[in-house]
Amino acid sequence: AQIPQAVNEEVKSYAPGTPERAQLLDAYKKMFNEVTEVPQYIGSEEVFSGNKKEIRPPHDHQKVVGYYHAGTQEDVVKAIDAALAAKEAWVAMPWEDRAAIFLKAADLLAGPYRAKINAATMIGQSKNAMQAEIDSACELIDFLRFNVQYMTEIYADQPISSPGIWNRVDYRPLEGFTFAITPFNFTAIAGNLPSCMALMGNVVVWKPSDKQTLAAKVTMEVFKKAGLPDGVINMILTGGADTAKTVLEHKDFAGLHFTGSTNVFNTLWKQIGDNIDKYRTYPRIVGETGGKDFVMVHKSACPTEVAVGLVRGAFEYQGQKCSAASRAYIPSNLWNEVEKQMKEMLATVTLGSPEDFSNFMTAVIDKNSFEKSKAYIDRAQASSEAEIVIGGTYDDSVGYFVQPTVIKATNPKYESMVEEIFGPILSIYVYDENEFEATLKLVDETSAYALTGSIFAKDRAAVELAAKALKNACGNFYINDKPTGAVVGQQPFGGARASGTNDKAGSAMNLLRWTSVQTIKETF
Ligand code: ALA
Repeated sequence: AQIPQAVNEEVKSYAPGTPERAQLLDAYKKMFNEVTEVPQYIGSEEVFSGNKKEIRPPHDHQKVVGYYHAGTQEDVVKAIDAALAAKEAWVAMPWEDRAAIFLKAADLLAGPYRAKINAATMIGQSKNAMQAEIDSACELIDFLRFNVQYMTEIYADQPISSPGIWNRVDYRPLEGFTFAITPFNFTAIAGNLPSCMALMGNVVVWKPSDKQTLAAKVTMEVFKKAGLPDGVINMILTGGADTAKTVLEHKDFAGLHFTGSTNVFNTLWKQIGDNIDKYRTYPRIVGETGGKDFVMVHKSACPTEVAVGLVRGAFEYQGQKCSAASRAYIPSNLWNEVEKQMKEMLATVTLGSPEDFSNFMTAVIDKNSFEKSKAYIDRAQASSEAEIVIGGTYDDSVGYFVQPTVIKATNPKYESMVEEIFGPILSIYVYDENEFEATLKLVDETSAYALTGSIFAKDRAAVELAAKALKNACGNFYINDKPTGAVVGQQPFGGARASGTNDKAGSAMNLLRWTSVQTIKETF
């Protein structure tokens, strides 16, 4: 069958006076002033357990905008049973019908549900309108449409045959059920992990982050409205450690699709190892984990491009993108100018509620995150190896607000240069402009994580040196651009080392992990 080639969903501007701005504001106000109840979705049921946990916007933590209904370990078992019960019919469904469900989901998100899912992401995860638009609208829509295209390309790839022999491969789903664990920071990732496994014919137990339940609910509503059969994706809202234990001890567990912290992923991997004798089949393990993404600057770079790249890369969505620029290496000849321009730009940006579309930043996700950023700032203030050159203030009286902060370290191994913070803190090391190659070596050596990284240089030989020296220091390498903002279909996304298994999200490479191929040889 021919399917349309996917194209990237156009980003709406939300400029004053546009209809999309009015619609989004309406949706925001409605959701903010209502009390949303988020159930678990298990089989055909929406389970309102009564064990209600408050949902409070990080930018306005005294306001309760809803509750999610926490589940129990019995619910986890029910979700697994519901997934397994749905499997036979789902596997038997022609792939065109599976594709149609997710293409329809993409259309629903692009049209009638766009304002609602963006509002949920703005309220629940404190994204400003533009950050919500590029995530919960465009990136999620792109994942759904491009995955359908990649699936059809995979299915079309068949071995050669000859007269008298017909060879073929059947792209079967994994035998058993799969498990998705998703983070708070991208509604798109949360929607993609379960749906891409389901698209490949798998049945799924999905545990979203308890910080992302508003948007996760809208995602489930969209999947259901698009015709997803009951039990194919079951959304549970249960505690992480207990849930993992229940799921990973099940004999039919067949795959883990994870985005979250390196520590949790390591724990899950070990648990899977401990349970290996229980399983019917070797499970697939795919994870995107931590990051400490770098920006390396050569003395030939344009200081304005560097300053813009750093401000956007480090501070959009409060530095909570896995791809966020969190350490930069600036040559001595450029530092004064880069610092001056960053100061000028950051002097004009504002922090506040996402309801005010002019705010460049809003709050970090929760109290823990606020306290973590605060502790790095306080320690930098007291340290002889670091100096706060921009920002450095915070205020959690209304929401968890941390000003965009730049720490200049004299020790390239100072804690904020090497540890993941996941907040609006950028650490800078100014190096002798003649020590470019030694600094490249330093960047690689201090890259325990390897997710994204950038080189800024006009000198092509410098780009080449950096590309070679940093070959394994990141999975996504950006030349003269910020290290954030990978677009589905354009920059497949993922990293290695402590950043994950590098099974690029939004690519055929990822989908191939969710199929277990049977080879068939027939002779005539
Ligand atoms: N697409 C997101 C980024 O690259 C994950 O920032």
